[in-house]
Amino acid sequence: REQEKANKAKRGANVKEITTVGVVGLGLMGHGIAQISAAAGFQTVGVDLNAEVLANGQKAIETSVAKLNSRKASKNPDFDAPAATEETLARLSYASTVDAVAQCDLIVEAIVEDASIKQKFYADLGERAKAEAIFASNTSSLAVAPMAAASQRPDRFVGLHYFNPVQLMKLCEVVQTPEVDDEVVELVDGWARLTGKITVRCKDTPGFIVNRLLVPNLAAAIAMAERGDAAIQDIDAAMCLGAGHPMGPLQLADYVGLDTCLSILKGWCAQYPDEPAFFVPPSLTAKVAAGKLGRKSGEGYYVWG
Ligand code: CAA
Ligand code: NAD
Repeated sequence: REQEKANKAKRGANVKEITTVGVVGLGLMGHGIAQISAAAGFQTVGVDLNAEVLANGQKAIETSVAKLNSRKASKNPDFDAPAATEETLARLSYASTVDAVAQCDLIVEAIVEDASIKQKFYADLGERAKAEAIFASNTSSLAVAPMAAASQRPDRFVGLHYFNPVQLMKLCEVVQTPEVDDEVVELVDGWARLTGKITVRCKDTPGFIVNRLLVPNLAAAIAMAERGDAAIQDIDAAMCLGAGHPMGPLQLADYVGLDTCLSILKGWCAQYPDEPAFFVPPSLTAKVAAGKLGRKSGEGYYVWG
């Protein structure tokens, strides 16, 4: 605590306004976060270490911005879709090294869901980023506090949990650790609302609100299919038509990424062995081992076109 206070005093004031944003990890989630940030008017830098992911992320953003703007234009003939697309894309730049985000006011991380990789990442980022910058992790399932501690700026660190597809899903969870400054939470929450989301606040507990309820449900549906209680398609149809969900649980597991589902469940099982809602269905492990990661790899519980 004393050391943290001294560090905080040394770092000086918080950022007062967010104008520049860095997004690290430009995969499934990161490209969407970079896109909505730029579309909301913020200068945004997207970073991925993997050149192929970086190029695909850029391509996905370009396609998605154009699609959403042309949809807007179809409802409002006065809306100039090509101009709006050009403006949004002009606010984006791309890089393959983390130094490109060092001067950003807010740095949102959407890299692989692995606690030790994220902690290493934050220890390094804490050294490189400007002192007043705020860090936000899009983690689905990991505790935020250890990443915040690794960054050496726990007072300027929040969880900022978006949902896939970021461009369409309306929610963003703002996760608060006991160490974070209230001023920082307000600023980041306000930024997330400017990116078009409805925000909810929650504490740093496993899965926050949505995933704590959703991921065990996906595992239970997979276990139901494994037991042969019903066919995959029937489980999904039942939850869509009988419970009003937009996607059935197995389709949604594929959509989220089976590797992501597996790493969430494995992490929770290791950390909370007495919680019966947390278990790993064997078919999930087998699919991931076979490279069937769901929609992103073309096959999971379903074959995707
Ligand atoms: N950018 C732009 N447009 C997009 C898009 C994107 N990224 N993704 C889809 N669209 C477009 C589609 O192309 C389609 O356009 P047209 O109407 O012109 O064909 C339009 O959006 C609607 O898409 P769909 O036809 O697929 O129709 P839909 O009404 O089913 O909406 C959906 C899609 C919003 C994904 C909906 O199926 C849904 O809400 N599914 C559930 C998603 C969900 O639960 N996500 C949360 C997962 S959990 C999570 O993310 C947290 C975690 O940590 C794991
Ligand atoms: P993804 O695999 O699509 O993308 C992660 C990207 O991070 C990869 O492209 C990888 O090249 C890059 N990366 C890894 N280490 C890096 C580093 N040190 N620096 C820069 N880039 C690095 O994964 P995703 O599904 O987008 O998930 C990203 C994060 O978002 C995870 O924490 C995940 O739990 C969370 N999340 C995922 C979903 C989902 O539905 N998939 C939803 C909400 C949150």
